[in-house]
Amino acid sequence: MKKILATGGTGYIGSHTVVELIQSGYEVDIVDNLFNSKATVIDEIFKITGKKPKFFKADLLNKEEISEIFANNHYDTVLHFAGLKAVGESVEKPLLYYRNNIEGTVNLLEIMQAHDVNEIIFSSSATVYGVQESPEYIETMQTGVGISNPYGRTKYFIEEIIKDQAIANDNFKAILLRYFNPVGAHPSGLIGEDPNGIPNNLMPIIMRVSDGRIPELSVYGNDYPTEDGTCRRDYIHVVDLAKGHTVCLNHLEKGVKIYNLGSGAPNSVMEIIAAFEKASGEKLPYKIVGRRAGDLAEFWANANKANKELNWSTELSIDDAMRDTINFLKNNKGK
Ligand code: NAD
Ligand code: UD1
Repeated sequence: MKKILATGGTGYIGSHTVVELIQSGYEVDIVDNLFNSKATVIDEIFKITGKKPKFFKADLLNKEEISEIFANNHYDTVLHFAGLKAVGESVEKPLLYYRNNIEGTVNLLEIMQAHDVNEIIFSSSATVYGVQESPEYIETMQTGVGISNPYGRTKYFIEEIIKDQAIANDNFKAILLRYFNPVGAHPSGLIGEDPNGIPNNLMPIIMRVSDGRIPELSVYGNDYPTEDGTCRRDYIHVVDLAKGHTVCLNHLEKGVKIYNLGSGAPNSVMEIIAAFEKASGEKLPYKIVGRRAGDLAEFWANANKANKELNWSTELSIDDAMRDTINFLKNNKGK
């Protein structure tokens, strides 16, 4: 069985993936600087799986710390989740994003190379597609054109860096996973999305409106060319997304493979509000405001490649995601 290191493993997607990996029999260590997550996630992972992953509080920007982890532990594969992801902040502080995401990744790749660790699975994003003629994004489309913010560009640049590393090293095996919009929480209610600071994405904002921390949701525009006028996105349950990583561990081959991980079916903002209200039994206060700069009317994944090659597809619905989100919210009240 492969031994895994998950960078950013106490974060939202990382923690759910660590759970799936442990439940599939893998031994997983985590490295995270806890910038956007809490060490208590390790205890929650233990409650769910009965196993406590080894945790290193360390920063990818600190090469000495990370090198020491690799010197003292053997890893077969690195799952690289660690990164900053707030789009608006990246516009205001581009150098912070280039430093953290790109330098962090280059450090990691150098240290992997020094320790003969040749397998990486990278958390990329649908954002690398930029602006396309068709809203159904497929892996063969050109990337990097029309990306509206530095965060998105870090994902595009890192993809290119990993491709170059594979060209230069015959033994290097990489999978780039382009996530669409992750939502939901673990059905146990013990882990979920719990960002430090003010969130930017739709679901964490809805969660804060629901528990009163934010007075109402601002819906960014209802004049888009979609059925109800609000933007449509491909929301994917985080547990389905996590399982997508587990299957990839059996599909690493020399070179670079790229997969979209999405459901293939988009929902509008109004549909998400309705699904949340149905699951919670409560009205969600919202108001329609102007469009958010950089938003596209709609896009979704063509997930045929992952369906066929990985034998992976989403199993959970938006209703499942809303139920699990509400369960997580209830569980975390007063924590
Ligand atoms: P998250 O913020 O919950 O998790 C990222 C983790 O990385 C955090 O725990 C943070 O503390 C850690 N981290 C950041 N910089 C670090 C550094 N220099 N050294 C060590 N640890 C560091 O985010 P997430 O939603 O779980 O996202 C995981 C990955 O997936 C990110 O790379 C993100 O860009 C990518 N992604 C996320 C989404 C989404 O909507 N959530 C969509 C597409 C891609
Ligand atoms: C955003 C980022 C994208 C990133 C992705 C996942 C932008 C332009 N794009 O995408 O780069 O990869 O998050 O991290 O920021 N919405 C509201 N009100 C809100 C928040 C969101 O109406 O308060 C709407 C948005 O207009 C959008 C939908 O909800 O239509 C989803 O928004 P969000 O969760 O931010 O994801 P994306 O816009 O897809």
